[in-house]
Amino acid sequence: MDCVALFMLLFLPGLHWTAAEETSWTYTGMVGQSEWSEHFPECGGTSQSPVDVVTTQTKYDPALTPLTPLGYSQHGNQPFTLYNNGHTAVIELPDWMSLGGLPWLFSAVQMHLHWGNGGPSYGGSEHTINGQSAEAELHVLHYNSELYPNMSAAMTQRDGLAVLGILIVTGEETNPAFNNIINYLSRIRHANQKVFIPAFDVQSLLPEDLGRYYRYNGSLTTPPCYQSVIWSLFNERVQISKAQLLKMETILFSSKAGDPDRMLLQDNYRATQPLNHRAVFASFTAESGKELTSGEVTAIVIGIMCGCVGLAVIVRFIIKTIRSTSSWDVLTNNRPAQMQRMKEPEKAIEKQQEMVLNSTSQAEKREERLSPQTKP
Ligand SMILES: *[C@@H]1O[C@H](CO)[C@@H](O)[C@H](O)[C@H]1NC(C)=O
Ligand SMILES: *[C@@H]1O[C@H](CO)[C@@H](O)[C@H](O)[C@H]1NC(C)=O
Repeated sequence: MDCVALFMLLFLPGLHWTAAEETSWTYTGMVGQSEWSEHFPECGGTSQSPVDVVTTQTKYDPALTPLTPLGYSQHGNQPFTLYNNGHTAVIELPDWMSLGGLPWLFSAVQMHLHWGNGGPSYGGSEHTINGQSAEAELHVLHYNSELYPNMSAAMTQRDGLAVLGILIVTGEETNPAFNNIINYLSRIRHANQKVFIPAFDVQSLLPEDLGRYYRYNGSLTTPPCYQSVIWSLFNERVQISKAQLLKMETILFSSKAGDPDRMLLQDNYRATQPLNHRAVFASFTAESGKELTSGEVTAIVIGIMCGCVGLAVIVRFIIKTIRSTSSWDVLTNNRPAQMQRMKEPEKAIEKQQEMVLNSTSQAEKREERLSPQTKP
């Protein structure tokens, strides 16, 4: 009974997700991108994704605090499910993984990848920055679990989904985190194939800097293209090796296992869509240096100003004190000089006199303290 409940909890949202995608569509060909809107009306909407982020036209929003993945690293012992849906490789995520840092709590549903074709041609990512593609893109999809009971209810609603977009570029070094997925792609070469893979730390796939990102309102990038997504595209790119990318781009088929026409699953990225007056916000400013956030820069500027003012006040005080001391010396004749000329016995006498004075003054003080009480 418990196992059935767990199964339903873990996999039903995923099954509904695949069911919604059932109508056949492709990236190129008969029901290619330009035809999507004929079959899925929302794909022709005015708030579609992906978009090209023109950094000079983004608006800095200081309210965009760092995103906080919750439980991403506590993957537990249950294996993850990896499957080929004919459009991409999907990893279902346990719903205790969630995303903070947004106006609501969002529960993780699944993650998947978009890539190019293994050739020298440019592209692979869905989002572009200043017209520039990355080689691939990872999407981590969440639904608004504060407002909606499940993924299928949330996916059609405004603010129903939150997707993290991670741009992937290639470099010399292998990224071991991505091998948790790439190493198992050979087991799901054909559409509809599914495999259990060891659970792993999902946060290790994300960039280190979760504080710098672009935010806009958009859609799912595949049919039915529901315009329900709060997008967060990280500024920092993640790096994998050329060999890792090549494996990802050349190992999967979009066709089913028995299909005589084998079709490689390649170029599974959608073209960028018009912004249509939507704003793209940035959680950071271009001017804030590589290491410093705008908040830090402001703090430093204020700190320096306060320091200067403080120093000026101290210098002024010292000068004032020196001036007033020297004028007092002149007015009260040359008392310090007299003191210097005093000899030992004279000093001793003065000390005694001082002691007498002190005791009398203490007695006077005591009287003063008592007197107000005795007065009516
Ligand atoms: C999702 O929630 C809706 C609305 O409460 C409900 O009708 C539907 O059965 C739920 N679906 C799943 C898969 O739990
Ligand atoms: C997204 O849309 C909502 C509702 O219209 C709005 O309140 C919010 O400011 C928008 N967010 C962005 C990033 O444009």
